[in-house]
Amino acid sequence: MKAPGTEAPRGRGRIVERRTIVVTRRLPGVPWDDMATRFRAGDPPTEGTMPREEFLARARGASGILCTLADRVDAELMDAAGSSLSVVSNFAVGVNNVDVVEAIRRGIRVCNTPDVLTDATADLGFALLLSAARKVSDADRFVRAGDWTGWDPWGFLGVPVAGKTLGIVGMGKIGAAVARRSRGFSMKVLYHNRRRIPPSEEAELAASYRDLDALLAESDFVVLCVPLTPETRGLISPERLGRMKRTAVLVNIARGEVVDEEAVATALAEGRLFGAGLDVFEKEPRIHPRLLSAPSAVLLPHLGSATGETREAMGRLATENLLAVLDGREPPCPVN
Ligand code: GLV
Repeated sequence: MKAPGTEAPRGRGRIVERRTIVVTRRLPGVPWDDMATRFRAGDPPTEGTMPREEFLARARGASGILCTLADRVDAELMDAAGSSLSVVSNFAVGVNNVDVVEAIRRGIRVCNTPDVLTDATADLGFALLLSAARKVSDADRFVRAGDWTGWDPWGFLGVPVAGKTLGIVGMGKIGAAVARRSRGFSMKVLYHNRRRIPPSEEAELAASYRDLDALLAESDFVVLCVPLTPETRGLISPERLGRMKRTAVLVNIARGEVVDEEAVATALAEGRLFGAGLDVFEKEPRIHPRLLSAPSAVLLPHLGSATGETREAMGRLATENLLAVLDGREPPCPVN
């Protein structure tokens, strides 16, 4: 029997539904041609984020939206879509770009892509930790600039990693994966989380709970892995940064808004922080100019999940989330 909202085969004999979906850009792992054959779906921009006006216009009457963390799905967008909208599938684990409270109020399912990006993101966190500790980016720039005149016993002195204390803020799946990686460096692991994790997990990760201020004061490396929520926005304030050791390194693989970027730039410039490894920024893609000129900051363009395999897996999961809701099934990764 034909599902409601389908119409007779068109063109190449395939069933083409009346329902509209919006896919905001071409994405790895998202079978665009299949989607465009089944649903009404205008071509996404070939590159870059869909401009807001276009997103609002295309959302009109849409049943499903498959979007990225660069697309804002708020009440205005939901109003534009109207009552047909049943699912917002985000190609990301973080859903701070989606107004989930508003979606719940309207009965719209929000889905995300956890798990498949845990290892890639934890790897990148460790890459930033090591790069900032050993001044990898700064030294690389120096070599490329042709400034290297010979081995220098005083050049690019970093801080050691092995045996040092790692403080993980946000002990979810990514935080735990960062903790596991630290075993190879014999690090002592502290963590802070909204709720303490069960004792069996603390034992498995050899991680000890601290309140945030104690963690910041004791840690040589602080890695931020929290989701962005009203509680975590601005969590690493100028005052909290002031609690960190002068020899410490701050790594952010969470969201830029968790950290006061200006305060980090000032702490680096004044030698109150040894280094920072930042993958995310308050106003992406803009970066605070004093961070751009800070030699001890390692800055990446939001690469946490950026491996080919991971991005393909995210695309498959985001597609399955979207189709499951549209087909009346339970999606694999619902947020609400
Ligand atoms: C990346 O930042 C994500 O949330 O997936």
